[in-house]
Amino acid sequence: MTMKHIPVLLDAVLNALGDIDGKTIVDCTFGAGGYSRAFLERGANVIAFDRDPNVVADAEKMRVQYGDRFDFIPHTFSHISDLGRTVDAIVFDLGISSMQIDVPERGFSFRADAPLDMRMSESGIDAVQWIEMHSVSELADVLRTYGDMKKANILARAIKEVVPKTTFELRDLIHNPKDVAPVFQALRIAVNDEMGELERALIAVPDLLTSGGKCICVTFHSLEDRIVKNTFRRWTTAPGDPRLPVVASAPFSLIRSAVPTDAELANNPRARSAHMRGVIKSC
Ligand SMILES: C[S@@+](CC[C@H](N)C(=O)[O-])C[C@H]1O[C@@H](n2cnc3c(N)ncnc32)[C@H](O)[C@@H]1O
Repeated sequence: MTMKHIPVLLDAVLNALGDIDGKTIVDCTFGAGGYSRAFLERGANVIAFDRDPNVVADAEKMRVQYGDRFDFIPHTFSHISDLGRTVDAIVFDLGISSMQIDVPERGFSFRADAPLDMRMSESGIDAVQWIEMHSVSELADVLRTYGDMKKANILARAIKEVVPKTTFELRDLIHNPKDVAPVFQALRIAVNDEMGELERALIAVPDLLTSGGKCICVTFHSLEDRIVKNTFRRWTTAPGDPRLPVVASAPFSLIRSAVPTDAELANNPRARSAHMRGVIKSC
C-alpha cells in the first residue's frame, strides 16, 4: 500500500523562512508537493525541481492551480546553477519520498520482492548495473560510508559474487537483519549519487541568493547532515586572519536548527532521523 507522503519538519521550515509573501522560493525536492503547496498558500512564488518523472502529473496540477506563480523543472537539483536569476530562498528536503519507498517495483524497499532498481529518475544506471560496474572495494566503501557496515568487505564480496537481481536476493545475502535497511540505504545513495548531487547544488547556492536570502536543508542521514553542517560552517565563518584587527564579517549567519517534536514523530515515524539546518545571507 502506498503511504501518502507527510511533509517532514514543515512547520520548522516555514518558521525558519518567516514571511514569504511575494518572495521566490526554490523547492529543490518537490516530491508530493507538500512544501511547494505550503509556500504557494503563503503567497510565495515557487520554482520546484524533482528528478522523479512520477511527480510530473502532480506538478502539472499545481501549475494549473497557481498559474505562473509555480514553475516545475523535471531535473536533478544540481541544475540550480543554471537558474540564471537570484531567489529569496532555496529549500532541500532530502532523501526519498513515501511514494518511492512504497511502490515495490521501484526496488527501494526490502519488504517486497521486485527488480533491484532504486533509481529516483527511472533513467540511467540501476542498482544491478551499479553493482556490476563497481569493484568489491568500491562497493565495500559504499556499504561502510553510507551504511555504517562493519564487515563491509565480506558482504561486498558476497554481493559481487551473486550480483543480486531482485530486492529479496539482496536481502537474503545479508545475515544480520539489523543490517538490511542500512545496506539498502547505502546502495540507494550510491545509485542516485545523492551526496554528489547535494555537494554540487550547495556550491551554487551562495550566488543564487539575494541579500537576506535563506538556504534551508532537511537531512535524513548523518553524512548528508555533515555535508550541510560543514558547508554552512564555512559560509558563516568570517574570512581573513582572526589575529588581524579588522575581520570581515561572514557572508551568512546560522538559523536555529530543528529536529522533529514527539508529536510529529508520533504522527510520522518516517521523520525520525530528520534534521533541519538553515542559513541567512547577510550581504
Ligand atoms: C523527501 S521527498 C520531498 C518531499 C516534499 N518536500 C513534500 O513535502 O512532498 C524528496 C524528493 O526529492 C527528490 N530528489 C531527491 N534527490 C534529488 C535530486 N538530486 N534532484 C532532484 N530531485 C531529487 C526525490 O525524487 C523525491 O521526490
